[in-house]
Amino acid sequence: MAKLTVEDLPLEGKKVLMRVDFNVPIKDGVVGDDNRIVAALPTIKYVIEHGGRAILFSHLGRVKMEEDKPGLSMRPVAERLSNLLNKPVTFVPVTEGKQLEDAIDNMNNGDVLLVQNTRYEDVKDGKYVKRESGNDPELGKYWASLGDVFINDAFGTAHRKHASNVGIATNMPGKAAAGYLMEKEIKFLGNAVDDPQRPFIAILGGAKVSDKIGVIDHLLDKADKIIIGGGMAYTFYAAKGIKVGNSLVEKDKIDVAKEILDKAGDKLVLPVDNVVADKFNNDANTKVVEGDIDDGWMALDIGPKTIKLYEDVLKDAKTVVWNGPMGVFEMSNFAKGTLEIGKFLGTLDDATTIVGGGDSTAAVKQLGVADKLTHISTGGGASLTYLEGKTLPGIAAISEK
Ligand code: 3PG
Repeated sequence: MAKLTVEDLPLEGKKVLMRVDFNVPIKDGVVGDDNRIVAALPTIKYVIEHGGRAILFSHLGRVKMEEDKPGLSMRPVAERLSNLLNKPVTFVPVTEGKQLEDAIDNMNNGDVLLVQNTRYEDVKDGKYVKRESGNDPELGKYWASLGDVFINDAFGTAHRKHASNVGIATNMPGKAAAGYLMEKEIKFLGNAVDDPQRPFIAILGGAKVSDKIGVIDHLLDKADKIIIGGGMAYTFYAAKGIKVGNSLVEKDKIDVAKEILDKAGDKLVLPVDNVVADKFNNDANTKVVEGDIDDGWMALDIGPKTIKLYEDVLKDAKTVVWNGPMGVFEMSNFAKGTLEIGKFLGTLDDATTIVGGGDSTAAVKQLGVADKLTHISTGGGASLTYLEGKTLPGIAAISEK
């Protein structure tokens, strides 16, 4: 990509503003899955090893009222980051003002500082003003004034137009670079979609067709096959006139599903059998059915013939992009489809296998198959937006080389 990268910037003795995506799960004041923090370490380490003073910004959760703030403090993230870096991280519990400015002035080369949750700026004096998530021009300008250069490594936030990514970058023209994680995500997702080794197979799952219409549309022109799983498969069933019983169907999307089927021809591959249940519960009675699903039964996973069919489609793949689980993997009795497909992808030694964030990442981790895959994206919404072929504002704002 022709964007400025971290290695193009002067770092020694510089105040290096960094946007990272540390929007991680926090429970009882402790960070859960720290994958996003770990993924940002290469860039942070590069900056501090080259004498930069790393000043980190991230949002955490969604702050809509004052009461949201205490549970969404960045303090636990600073602690985890400090453990991972094996060095102190200064946590500044505010997002602007003298306390922050003094802390930055007191930094030495190689120090790391984490600013409070940037979305604290979304609520001022009890009002939901969205200064951060609405990219308030004064806020971006103020944050930019705190540093010498800017690195955006927050791929997971790249689909958002926030003051802390787009705002800072536009106020630092020629000095806003992509970090290593950002570069890596763009390389894997970009190459997969725009210059794939073929056959290129996309696997799309998840509950709703409506979430994936843009992706299917974009990938129909790019992929050799698109495999469909998860709840969205049954809206396609309805569009084909197959009985769906009590399965999840988006009635207002049946027409769109018909249009996609017409356009796709045999490029779109649907389940041929399903594990159906008599209630939405892991203890439900279940059976495997092919074709029509009777009333009183709902499909919660793909069936064994479908797993075999999908493995056949995937066996010669050179590039696979996967977004969305094949069934209700959170319930052990309906996790087999997602697990088997994940395991099979892990055996494709000649293929680049990419998981596009969100639920699919949670699935491959929970099921223990993540290690065997080439790239697990840190972006949920961001990777979906990328797969839709849309411009991501966070990336667009990074300076050109
Ligand atoms: C994400 O987790 O997808 C990003 O951090 C963006 O978070 P948001 O959906 O709250 O904007």
